[in-house]
Amino acid sequence: MSAVEANPYAGNRRYHDDYPEMGSGPVSTEPYYSEAYFQLEKEYLFKKVWLNAGRVEALQTPGDFIVKDLPVCDTSVIVVRAPNGGLNAFHNMCSHRGNKIAYDPDGHNPSFYCRFHGWTYDLDGNLQDVPDEENYFDLDKSCLGLTPVHVDEWGGFIFVNVDPNPAETLQEYMGELGAGLADYPFAETSGQVFTFETVVNANWKLVKDAFQETCHTPYQHNRSLPDAYINEANPHTRLIDMQVHGYHARASLFGNVEHQPSPVASRAYGYGSTIAGASMVDGEEVAPALAPPLVNPTGSAEWSFELSVFFPSFFVAVTNGSYFTHQFIPIAVDKTHWFSTTCYPAPKTAAERFSQEYSRVMFRDIMLEDGRQIEETQSMIKSGAKNEFILKDEELFIRQGLWQADQMIEKYRGAP
Ligand code: FES
Ligand SMILES: [Fe+2]
Repeated sequence: MSAVEANPYAGNRRYHDDYPEMGSGPVSTEPYYSEAYFQLEKEYLFKKVWLNAGRVEALQTPGDFIVKDLPVCDTSVIVVRAPNGGLNAFHNMCSHRGNKIAYDPDGHNPSFYCRFHGWTYDLDGNLQDVPDEENYFDLDKSCLGLTPVHVDEWGGFIFVNVDPNPAETLQEYMGELGAGLADYPFAETSGQVFTFETVVNANWKLVKDAFQETCHTPYQHNRSLPDAYINEANPHTRLIDMQVHGYHARASLFGNVEHQPSPVASRAYGYGSTIAGASMVDGEEVAPALAPPLVNPTGSAEWSFELSVFFPSFFVAVTNGSYFTHQFIPIAVDKTHWFSTTCYPAPKTAAERFSQEYSRVMFRDIMLEDGRQIEETQSMIKSGAKNEFILKDEELFIRQGLWQADQMIEKYRGAP
């Protein structure tokens, strides 16, 4: 066997060959700035699919609620723990004159009270009380509850779907990738959670694309991550493996097992999982994190983490001992609300807490490098100087996301 054949990162494997329907040529930049296309995405994509709204840990007891603002769906949704222990979701809009019921992003209420004129709803959305009720005309409170939204959970993640009649259940929507990842110990690894959020002046797909390829790592992150994800055999941070699963996609990311962390990072690595760790696949026993079939499915010893891209804009990246998520919620064609959340087990010692803090700050610094590039790219995209992006093989997920959006818009636009 030649040296080239022995190196899995130097061959010329073509992932695109598995998806001929997506083509391999340049892709148009128009979906990244077209107001008309953005309107199609709103109506026939975001208003049709299941969107992550949070985690169940935030909703422990009846009355605990979270609010998910979804400007791309022209709404805001309340998700609340119901008296029967299930989940209820409602449009965050009063039946009287449309005021938002919940202004705060989360909280606990025995009932929902509209502060405009005091209409009150129970946790199942029923209208309970109307002040000065006799001054209205033929008021039938039984028909004036909050408007429900479909809600379900997968792996402890809460999803909502604003379509009054979703075409698929959440389990159907998550499909093969959801089934292959669901056994990751998300609950145990959600004891310490940090969220960063910001508004990026860029199209949601441009934000998303920055996180669904690793080939920018040696360049954009050459200061923050000089050798964590490259080595002599893999100088371009090629992936271990990537695959499309229905609407969604996943990739196994390479890590350099010879990575030399700084002295402080070494201390942090000793007490927990960090974003820039080398291979997490050591030891004889299969850790719970590695048990799900779609986590490191090739069994590579150089695996660092598994990136699962749930269409349209929810990423779950798991490793051994921590995971992080990204979500990109469009606000306008060139404005995106970006949420990044890093999650760890509840720390048992101060050393573990230090390790998590180090990891979270390191993660933030890397994300800032990405954020800068995204806005710079958006600032040029309408110039007309370039009307196409040129994609390499490992930029397959960018092509797949664009292709999948077109497919979905076509499907629902044509639906009766
Ligand atoms: S709008 Fe809610 S009570 Fe009037
Ligand atoms: Fe990056």
